[in-house]
Amino acid sequence: MYSKEVENTDIKKARQSLIEEIEAVNWYETRIEGVKDPELKRILEHNRDEEKEHIAMLLEWIRKHDKEQDKAFEEHD
Ligand SMILES: [Fe+2]
Repeated sequence: MYSKEVENTDIKKARQSLIEEIEAVNWYETRIEGVKDPELKRILEHNRDEEKEHIAMLLEWIRKHDKEQDKAFEEHD
């Protein structure tokens, strides 16, 4: 199921990090809604977008190391 070089615990750590990155995007979006200062708003939007990059990086890593997950991206309905 998992690639040989990666332990099951590493997969779980990657999934948990993915959860936290997705939550971070939601936290930033909620926070941005209430910001009055335009400069702070730009900073928070930038930070939110970086979290989206982190999501992409983790998803790529998970796909690389969890073959069933990778297959699901290719074969889902
Ligand atoms: Fe992040």
